[in-house]
Amino acid sequence: MEFVEFSLERIQSLYENLVDHNLSDSGVHPYNLRELLTADQLEKMLEVELGYGWTNGSPELRTSIANLYKDRNADNVIVTNGSAEANILMVMAMLDPGDELIVVVPNYLQIWGFAKAIGVVVKELPLREELGWVPDLGDLEALISPRTKMITICHPNNPTGSLLPKEAMTQLVDFARKHDLWLHADEVYKGSELNGIESPSFADMYEKSIVTSGLSKALALPGLRIGWLVGPEKEIYRAWQGKDYTSITASAVSEYVADIVVQPGKREDILARSRRILNDNVGLLADWLNTNNNLFSCILPKAGGMAFVRYQMDINSSELVHRLREERSIMLLPGDVYGMDGFIRLGVGAPKSHIETGLHHLADFARSNF
Ligand SMILES: Cc1ncc(COP(=O)(O)O)c(C=O)c1O
Repeated sequence: MEFVEFSLERIQSLYENLVDHNLSDSGVHPYNLRELLTADQLEKMLEVELGYGWTNGSPELRTSIANLYKDRNADNVIVTNGSAEANILMVMAMLDPGDELIVVVPNYLQIWGFAKAIGVVVKELPLREELGWVPDLGDLEALISPRTKMITICHPNNPTGSLLPKEAMTQLVDFARKHDLWLHADEVYKGSELNGIESPSFADMYEKSIVTSGLSKALALPGLRIGWLVGPEKEIYRAWQGKDYTSITASAVSEYVADIVVQPGKREDILARSRRILNDNVGLLADWLNTNNNLFSCILPKAGGMAFVRYQMDINSSELVHRLREERSIMLLPGDVYGMDGFIRLGVGAPKSHIETGLHHLADFARSNF
């Protein structure tokens, strides 16, 4: 199997732990266990038996997750190792070589790359900057062929932080229904909407939808490695058959914590913290953009842990990122990893002091060199 290098992840894996200020993360600054759990919950964690458990996730946890959606039960859910595994299982369960997949781009690109590797034909529907990083759904019709099997979208979007207006979500569902297509949505950023109004889930809007989510981004717990897929029972069962090959099961300790975190009250507390951090940092970014508007511009994110910033300097985005890393010990992501030179991705979920320092260096670097 030939893989296109997943350069978004590769560059982070190589460098993110070697800099003073890592602004390449796309989530919200994580909790530690002591902050997250009560003394009683921590004590009970010591009793968790370290077996395999249910390889598709404990019925209790799957039921708790199902309750986040309308009319779903434990059989509509599989628990995975991060939303990354959920995305892989989704492709394995749903797509075959020769099928056509429409990917809304820019996008996290994991599904884009993995589907290509197994021989799926990938077509791209662009989010348009001039529309506020929303697609022109008129572009969709031209991408459809008799082999089109699925549309996949990352919503809220990585890397732009954009959201589809409710009417556009409905139009996308109507389009998929009209053409009898599967609709996959990676909703790992759902719940981080800066205005506090959580977007609906595509899982609640369409019978042929399959949705990825997890605890890593809006819920600020990437180290637990808990994600999930929610969808029709038959497709979820197929994903479970795939998991026999990928990882068998998720960690028993993480499942214990996850079942605390996805209870509505706790989930809302965590999301409130995420929104507080993101709103503070996006405010800082907005002030900085005003001061530096001759060099940088950005359609501010409406959700999610990152901003996609356009720059005016005459330098390739990968070169810019490597020079900032080497000369200033700051780590950003280049637009190149999305095939979009001229942009940098800046994590807005990092601690405020990191954002302040990072933005200071970025402007200073740009002024000193261009
Ligand atoms: C949109 C999206 N989906 C999935 C993932 C994978 O996340 P995890 O496996 O940590 O849940 C990421 C990570 O950046 C992401 O941005």
